[in-house]
Parts: sequence; structure tokens; C-alpha cells
Amino acid sequence: MSLERKDEHDHRGWMQERDLSPIEQGYLMALIWLDKRFRIVDYLELLETMYYRVNLQMPKSHTEQYNLDNKFWYWYPLYSLGAFSTIAYIVAALTGAILGFYYAPSTADGMEETIAYDDVVFIMQDLNFGYFLRSLHRWSAQIMTAAVFLHMLRVYFTGAYKEPREVNWLLGIVLISLTMVFGYTGYLLPWSQLSYWAGQIGVEMALSIPFVGEWVAQLVFGGFSLDASTLQRMYILHVFILPFVVTALIALHIGIVWMQGIAEPH
Ligand code: HEM
Repeated sequence: MSLERKDEHDHRGWMQERDLSPIEQGYLMALIWLDKRFRIVDYLELLETMYYRVNLQMPKSHTEQYNLDNKFWYWYPLYSLGAFSTIAYIVAALTGAILGFYYAPSTADGMEETIAYDDVVFIMQDLNFGYFLRSLHRWSAQIMTAAVFLHMLRVYFTGAYKEPREVNWLLGIVLISLTMVFGYTGYLLPWSQLSYWAGQIGVEMALSIPFVGEWVAQLVFGGFSLDASTLQRMYILHVFILPFVVTALIALHIGIVWMQGIAEPH
């Protein structure tokens, strides 16, 4: 009998002795099967060690330091705002991906209006659950913006931006700015009158920047007046560049919170 088969017999014997339920047996067998092939137990232990090492180096939380376990903090509900922003972001990402099946960023003439606008009309009037889908996308985007702003206020008024959390505050500034760029680029995509004139205001704002204004307008809007290249740029920013950058930064932001532990109210 080979060594591996003997191992399996040992496991079976061990399980029979302990009178495990079929579910427990199935779970253990799966674990053993995976461990033999991918050494998952070793890697899980490695992760556990890393987790404790990282946490040991970090400052103690306020509750630990002052032994406040039994105190109720009226700030606590506001600590959910970061998670709320994340959930709204995930909903917007998922609904946005589905909206993408039915939208083309084209300024060419469609049946009545431009193709981009026609696509939005199609989504709202003809597509099954299209109205619902687009509403979910718009609402989640706006809720995210509001939640991020309120989260920032929470961080400010609880003093959570102070040492050692300055880096996460600065990262937060980048995140709230990118959240607004997300909203703005999305607002232009329906290529409606509102979109068009909001775009025009954007061009004017870019042009008002001293020295580099014209260059910025060219880069971001593809020119000084709105045309196909403007919509193309807004689209790529909205569905390609920003999703990667913002997802990575949110992961980093939450990773840092995990490493540093949460700052309790002072
Ligand atoms: C996309 C936007 C953002 C997301 C998804 C996000 C997510 C989170 C989450 C989940 C937490 C854990 C604690 C909590 O939820 O209150 C947190 C903490 C934190 N956030 Fe944000 N955040 C965002 C924007 C911002 C902004 C705009 C700022 C400030 C300029 C900021 C600064 C911080 C700081 C300093 C902490 C640590 C707070 C503490 O330890 O109590 N974040 N963030």
C-alpha cells in the first residue's frame, strides 16, 4: 500500500472514531483533498501569522487603550458610511456593466437623435427592466457621492484623520475627487441637452485654468467644443480607466483601515 493511500485510511479511521456527520466528513475530505494538492493549510497559517504580526505593530484602538468596551458611542452608526459608499459603488459597477450591453458612445445620427441618446431612450422605454436598471445605476451613483461626503465629515469630526491615518485621509481626498469625476463623466454619456451643456461648462472650466487650460481641454474633452471625441473620452474614462483606478484605491484604502485598526471617537 502506498504512503498516500495509508494516509487516507488514517483519516477515515480518525473520522469514524469521532462519529462525524456526513457534512463534517465531506468538509474534512475536501480540505484534505485540497491540502494534498495546494498545501492550503500551510498558506492559511502563513496568512494568520501575517495578520497577527501586522496587528501587533499597529497602535491599540481607543476602546482597547481606555477599556471602553461597555460604553455606547453615539458616533458608531456613522462608522457605517464607508461601507455604505463601498456597497453603493458595487451596485453602480454591476448595473453599469449591464447598461453597457445596450449603449454605444456614438454621436452619429440614429433613428431620431444621436445613437447614444437613442440607446438611452431604448433602455428607458423598450428594454425589459431597463427603466429599473438605469434608475438603480443613477441612484446608487448619487447615493455613493452623498455617502462618501458624509463619511468624510465623520472622519473629520471624530478626528480620525490624525496621525497615523494621514495617508488614508489623503487617499480619501483622491477618492472623493475621482467619485465626482465618475459622476461627471457618466452625466455626459446620455448626450442629452443637460449632458451637452454640462460638457460645455466643463470645457470652459478647463479653458479657465491659467497657462495649461487649452492643453487640458484638448486632453480631457478632445477639443474646445463638444463632438464625437468628447463623448468617446468620457466613455473610456467612465467605463475603463476610472473603474480600475477607483477599485484599486478603495481596496488600498480599506486595506489600510484593516492594518491600522479603526479610530474610535475621542
Ligand atoms: C470611494 C470613497 C470611499 C470609500 C469606499 C471609503 C471606505 C472606507 C471604509 C469602509 C472605512 C472604514 C471605516 C468607516 O467605514 O467609517 C474608511 C475609513 C477611513 N476613510 Fe474612507 N472611504 C472613501 C472616501 C474617503 C474620503 C473622501 C476620506 C477623507 C478625505 C476618507 C478617509 C478615511 C479615513 C481617514 C479612514 C480611517 C477612519 C478611522 O480609522 O476611523 N475616506 N473608509
